[in-house]
Amino acid sequence: MSHQLGLFDSSLGGLTVLRRLIESYGPISCLYLGDTARVPYGNRSATEIRSIADEVVSWLRKEKVSAVVMACNTTNALARDVAERAAAGLPVFGLIESVAGQVSVSRVGVLATPATAASGAYTRAIQRTCFEINIFEQPCPAFVPMIEAGDLASSALRQAAVSYLRPLLKQQVREIILGCTHYPLIEPLLHQLLPPDIRLLDPARALARDLDCFLGTPLRSRTCRDLLTLQSTRLCVTADPEGFAERTVRWLGIRPHVELVSLRPSACAF
Ligand code: DGL
Repeated sequence: MSHQLGLFDSSLGGLTVLRRLIESYGPISCLYLGDTARVPYGNRSATEIRSIADEVVSWLRKEKVSAVVMACNTTNALARDVAERAAAGLPVFGLIESVAGQVSVSRVGVLATPATAASGAYTRAIQRTCFEINIFEQPCPAFVPMIEAGDLASSALRQAAVSYLRPLLKQQVREIILGCTHYPLIEPLLHQLLPPDIRLLDPARALARDLDCFLGTPLRSRTCRDLLTLQSTRLCVTADPEGFAERTVRWLGIRPHVELVSLRPSACAF
């Protein structure tokens, strides 16, 4: 049976999750929504984020997806319950729950959007699996706007990264969770700035494993890079489809066709 997965994020970040899924399972049938009209989510209030999650998941359900993947930590942290309600019985998969059990040290850092960090969702999820782990959540307000702007080699981005990593290093964390799906896009920069023995955890890897039960046998033994294809993926955004397609190339290596959609049913003209 073929499943259409519905993935969503504020913009480019969820593509890092999509990429992990395609690397694991090959060309899965998938509808991706980047809510580019409202990026960034992570600097918004909890009320706004919950209302956005409701609208996005309701739209995905109307588009007949068979499961929802919250490829966005911010909505996962603040609106998982809203997403489940809007999904009306469809399975909902989240990054935070998937990675929580993967922490293997007693001191872990989390880099996240301000809204995710303030919610304490990572701390709660990790401490549910082991109460003894110390978790340090670091808000990174500048990362998403800078990553969306596309200059990943800028000195401003480097400086921001240094200032966000410093408090975590001071706390002597041994692992750092990339608690926003945009951050794998700057993983090389983070590695440059960190001592080699600090491990970065991308929750999308754990999420991909959690989807085994839904998608069947993964292709993990094959060489993943060669498999990247968007042939079964429909990419939609709520603004600037051309700009999104252009920015996608850096991460996926492909310039895809991107559709502009409206999440609300259009008003009746009569
Ligand atoms: N990439 C999303 C996340 O994982 C949203 C980031 C944002 O729009 O601020 O949190």
